[in-house]
Amino acid sequence: MSAPQHRSGPQADGSGENPSGRDTPGEVADLFYALCGRRRDVRGQFTGEPLDDVVLRRILGAAHAAPSVGLSQPWDFVLVRDRGTRETFRDHVAAERDTFARELSGEDAETFSKIKIEGILESTLSVVVTYDPDRGSPAVLGRHAIADAGLYSVCLAIQNLWLAATAEGLGVGWVSFYREPVLRELLHIPERVRPVAWLCLGPVTHLEQTPDLERHGWRSRLPLDAVVHAERYPES
Ligand SMILES: Cc1cc2nc3c(=O)[nH]c(=O)nc-3n(C[C@H](O)[C@H](O)[C@H](O)COP(=O)(O)O)c2cc1C
Repeated sequence: MSAPQHRSGPQADGSGENPSGRDTPGEVADLFYALCGRRRDVRGQFTGEPLDDVVLRRILGAAHAAPSVGLSQPWDFVLVRDRGTRETFRDHVAAERDTFARELSGEDAETFSKIKIEGILESTLSVVVTYDPDRGSPAVLGRHAIADAGLYSVCLAIQNLWLAATAEGLGVGWVSFYREPVLRELLHIPERVRPVAWLCLGPVTHLEQTPDLERHGWRSRLPLDAVVHAERYPES
């Protein structure tokens, strides 16, 4: 699956533009909903082929165009290509996988043993997304009552990145089997800054139609109606 080279991403000032100048709102909506359905968490389908810098820049531009509390844009993107760094992280993730596996028994243990949880070395590069609570502080508009609003903003940037990569025909895999202090030390991330995600990124052979965890029988997606409620939260 090759990444198209001709698209324009968000502008440097963060503004958008009509992708082609001729798509109708209905067509854009159709494309968007198809994209949401097409996005997958990728572990096993990375090819490791090179990724064009222009495409990478567009994807990061989409992430950087995300909404953020008080326009704080509290994210940073650390691009990790070095094989040694990735091997060190992969070894740590493998150890954390074992830690989780030891908590399982019976059918869960058997099912989990078959699930791949990362494509750190197989993907082209990794993007580590961090949260800096000091960005825009002390008066971050909208964060005075909900400290986590900064973290939510970073997650929105990650989702933009994920959808943009999918639109480019690429794969993304979020790896969270790690201890934050380990990742901080590995990438020299200051104490105040929180690593939020290690994302594997790159060309893929294909995107699966069904999430891996569903394919392997770990868990199934809920129907929409199970999570939409009228007027008040349901009684438990
Ligand atoms: C915060 C977060 C952390 C995740 N961590 C991992 C991980 O460590 N390993 C993994 O294989 N998938 C991880 N995933 C991917 C989820 O398993 C995946 O999104 C989910 O099963 C639904 O599949 P889909 O993304 O293909 O729709 C993570 C996803 C999120 C949002």
